[in-house]
Amino acid sequence: MDMATILVMLVAFAAAMGCIPTMFAATPGSEDGSGVKDNPSLSASSRGSVGITDRDAAHQKAWRTGEEASAHAGGFHTGSGSGGSGSGGGAGGLSVGFYSSSCPQVETVIEQQLRVILQANIGQAAGILRIMFHDCFVQGCDASLLLLRPTTELTATPNNASIRASSLRALDTIKAAVEAVCPGVVSCADTIVLSTKIAVKLSGGPIIPMRTGRRDGLSAASNQTVVNNIPPPTLNITALKQNFQNHGLDSRDLVSLSGGHTIGRAHCRFVDPQITPTISTDLNTAFALNLSRICLPANNPIKARQTTHLDFVTPNLFDNSYFNNILAKVAIFHTDAALTNASDTLQLVQLYAQNQPLFFQQFSQSMIKMSQLNVLTGQQGEIRKKCSTPNQFLNS
Ligand code: HEM
Ligand SMILES: *[C@@H]1O[C@H](CO)[C@@H](O)[C@H](O)[C@H]1NC(C)=O
Ligand SMILES: *[C@@H]1O[C@H](CO)[C@@H](O)[C@H](O)[C@H]1NC(C)=O
Ligand SMILES: *[C@@H]1O[C@H](CO)[C@@H](O)[C@H](O)[C@H]1NC(C)=O
Ligand SMILES: *[C@@H]1O[C@H](CO)[C@@H](O)[C@H](O)[C@H]1NC(C)=O
Ligand SMILES: *[C@@H]1O[C@H](CO)[C@@H](O)[C@H](O)[C@H]1NC(C)=O
Repeated sequence: MDMATILVMLVAFAAAMGCIPTMFAATPGSEDGSGVKDNPSLSASSRGSVGITDRDAAHQKAWRTGEEASAHAGGFHTGSGSGGSGSGGGAGGLSVGFYSSSCPQVETVIEQQLRVILQANIGQAAGILRIMFHDCFVQGCDASLLLLRPTTELTATPNNASIRASSLRALDTIKAAVEAVCPGVVSCADTIVLSTKIAVKLSGGPIIPMRTGRRDGLSAASNQTVVNNIPPPTLNITALKQNFQNHGLDSRDLVSLSGGHTIGRAHCRFVDPQITPTISTDLNTAFALNLSRICLPANNPIKARQTTHLDFVTPNLFDNSYFNNILAKVAIFHTDAALTNASDTLQLVQLYAQNQPLFFQQFSQSMIKMSQLNVLTGQQGEIRKKCSTPNQFLNS
């Protein structure tokens, strides 16, 4: 099969999933489903609307019961980064095709599962991509983000009521399917990375040659470590570059990885600082008014559960419109707009806005770098059977 055929298939798949450019429909409150079950509707209108009621704000401790929880604001303290070891040119003990003899079907199984999961809710692609980011930036890509016992990272402010509960459940489903064919072989850390790879591909993005061989951490990071490592959306360009540098990532990584905001959504509590008490100079006025209709008044409990698309032009398609949005002042976060506030990052935003293949190429390289942060390999850690629980606690 040649590249053109693959691309046609991907675009057809994206179209079937309702990912093809949809119009900006300002219908605050349009249901994306709420409560425990995901809305199976895939119509362009339901996927393309901007005001979405949060159905994933379930308190993560109760992610399997879908119990609701409301919004929670983010905060940031500078502190020790998790370090960049395992990043850079080295593969950090990982290899492409690590499972080629122990579990050759792993990617096929994950893809089969993801096709069903994304068919039911294309938003899971964004949810899973963000899980990889929040796992890798805190204590490395060790699946510690998925732990519920004995401690958890999910209650820390940057994660609580913001990492999608339904995406955690999706990863449980994927891991169970992998365990069914290769019991005790594939780590949760690799499951996150491979699921992200395939979710990005199925959303129209690049095919990233991820290495595997990660093992799972035995414990979660502290709340403070999570806060120290996950950048809040209010940072200026200096602090943003510093945060990425602490993780061994440079300006090209920062700009291309920020392109992850080409899919997914933001809760109003992250949008509010941009529109109230005054409209930020980051935003086009008409766009800010649209956001205001969805999110204001702030602190209203109904509005607090609303979300906006991160990329209102092609909300579910993995493309380079994020960079055009930044230049048009219709990107959501201050950290998105701040990429224009240094000459090197501005230049990259302009390049990726004009050249999607170049963005895809850099995004792939940077994702591989991020996927190798502080990985456990060899005999380190373990292969968790259930991603929420270290093996030693499974029967207690
Ligand atoms: C550069 C610093 C970054 C900041 C400040 C930031 C901040 C945020 C915030 C505040 C949200 C909204 C979450 C919510 O309301 O539930 C979000 C969503 C998201 N972020 Fe980032 N992010 C950054 C980098 C990244 C990176 C590196 C990736 C992946 C490569 C990423 C992927 C996503 C995705 C896919 C979503 C949507 C999640 C969903 O729909 O559930 N972000 N980000
Ligand atoms: C998580 O956020 C919800 C909603 O703000 C809040 O009720 C809950 O107490 C938070 N949990 C933790 C552990 O901070
Ligand atoms: C993290 O914070 C939450 C909510 O404040 C708390 O319930 C939990 O025990 C904390 N976890 C750790 C490891 O400190
Ligand atoms: C960026 O933010 C940091 C931390 O809040 C602050 O100390 C610094 O002055 C800010 N830099 C600029 C150029 O605004
Ligand atoms: C604001 O919303 C209106 C109505 O849906 C839409 O036509 C317009 O394109 C939006 N403007 C911006 C800048 O997003
Ligand atoms: C960055 O933002 C600050 C504050 O808005 C502004 O004073 C400064 O000129 C900007 N710098 C660049 C390089 O755009």
